[in-house]
Amino acid sequence: PDTTTLGADERKLRLAQIEQVAASCTRCALHQGRTNPVFARGSATAELMFVGEGPGADEDAQGLPFVGKAGQLLDKMIVAMGYEVDDVYIANIVKCRPPENRKPEPSEAAMCLGYLQEQIALVRPKAIVALGATACEGLLGASGITRLRGTWRLYRGEIPVMPTFHPAYLLRKPEDKRLVWSDLQQVMQRLGKTPAPKR
Ligand code: URA
Repeated sequence: PDTTTLGADERKLRLAQIEQVAASCTRCALHQGRTNPVFARGSATAELMFVGEGPGADEDAQGLPFVGKAGQLLDKMIVAMGYEVDDVYIANIVKCRPPENRKPEPSEAAMCLGYLQEQIALVRPKAIVALGATACEGLLGASGITRLRGTWRLYRGEIPVMPTFHPAYLLRKPEDKRLVWSDLQQVMQRLGKTPAPKR
């Protein structure tokens, strides 16, 4: 369906409808372990979208993506880019928490991908930041985050995707923050964004 002409309210409405469908989803086994499905946070008309892997314990408890330690770092990066956290759109490859924070299985990611595809089609961001290997595999079918990061790719031949390291990785390896910042600067350049003044 053509979503290019939809206004903000219609996009919000349709996203809410998809969220409802996802909330009772039983397409893969991950639903058995969820407390809350984690659909998204942010703006339905965002020019910039972030895609992570899947909910952790904090996200599962709150029903929102990136609200734990990694999420706090992600929010800092978003603000450093000159955005308000509510101006971007944040989602994950899978909507239900994998047990013991393991990576989603490819079959689980495949079962869930339709939701993300609909989210992207409705938000129609000008760029997507793929956070970590799972996001790159899901969005681009490409693996090797160390090689991929910092280089523009295309989602479905149309939306530019910037692969970068996952914020949870940066918590373990803070010296790689400068690499992520240079990737995010490429995104800012493309979107005509100037960094926020240091606060
Ligand atoms: N890590 C992710 O990939 N997604 C979240 O929502 C939280 C942590």
